[in-house]
Amino acid sequence: MILKGKTAVITGASAGLGRDFSNALIEKGATVFGLARRAEKLEEMDDRLGALFHGIECDVSDEKQVTKAFESISSQSDRLDILVNNAGLGRFGLLEDMSAEDWDVQMATNLRGVFLCTRAVLPAMKRHNAETGFGGHIVNICSVAGLVGNPEVSAYNATKFGLKGFSEALMKEVRNDGIKVSCLYPGSIQTDFFSTAGVEISIDAMTAEDITSSLIHVLETPDNYLVSEVVMRPLRPNG
Ligand SMILES: NC(=O)c1ccc[n+]([C@@H]2O[C@H](COP(=O)([O-])OP(=O)(O)OC[C@H]3O[C@@H](n4cnc5c(N)ncnc54)[C@H](OP(=O)(O)O)[C@@H]3O)[C@@H](O)[C@H]2O)c1
Repeated sequence: MILKGKTAVITGASAGLGRDFSNALIEKGATVFGLARRAEKLEEMDDRLGALFHGIECDVSDEKQVTKAFESISSQSDRLDILVNNAGLGRFGLLEDMSAEDWDVQMATNLRGVFLCTRAVLPAMKRHNAETGFGGHIVNICSVAGLVGNPEVSAYNATKFGLKGFSEALMKEVRNDGIKVSCLYPGSIQTDFFSTAGVEISIDAMTAEDITSSLIHVLETPDNYLVSEVVMRPLRPNG
């Protein structure tokens, strides 16, 4: 896909990977609707990135807020080419010490949020396919925690293993509607993720820019070439 002139929705756009994805897509000439809960962070991005960035305050796990956000997007743009399901978090620790609230917020953000946002874009993408022969591209930000289980990561592992299954099923469900579904599996990245998870980052992690370069590559592939999965790791995790 040529990114110039296209419209993308990026969830979790206020920080970390989502902020970097937004910067890169705007540099390529795409319009970005960035969803997140922290209005002040989105306002800073609105000021910095100009007319191509539209911050929308939205908790992706809340059905009403997601419906309202996508109504606002469709009133401002007659096309929707890309959805990056990036919003997510981990809360790490021993299972016996985990609160039901910590379990629920990971499920609600990492899985329910992906379901709600994906459901919201499919009708427009299917319409686009009927008109042009190509529907669009959905990219899910999973994790190596969607491939490998580890102690003290059980709830996060459960959400990301779930996202792997969701992505594979959706890919097969919509490929004949001209809609690409790609699932990215990064290892550790230098973002605020680890302070939210309650652990220190212990390895020589990748940068958000590293992951963004692969996102752009996957999005820019020719229409009949689908990169359905990518695993990303630091070469020397111990430096
Ligand atoms: N960092 C890593 O090592 C790593 C590795 C593999 C995969 N990942 C995945 O990468 C994705 C991005 O994480 P990150 O590393 O960029 O972490 P981050 O810096 O903590 O950013 C998380 C983003 O998600 C948003 N978010 C969280 N809950 C939300 C909700 N309910 N509704 C809307 N937005 C919400 C946050 O915005 P607000 O707080 O403003 O809502 C923020 O913009 C996540 O899915 C994570 O699981 C991260």
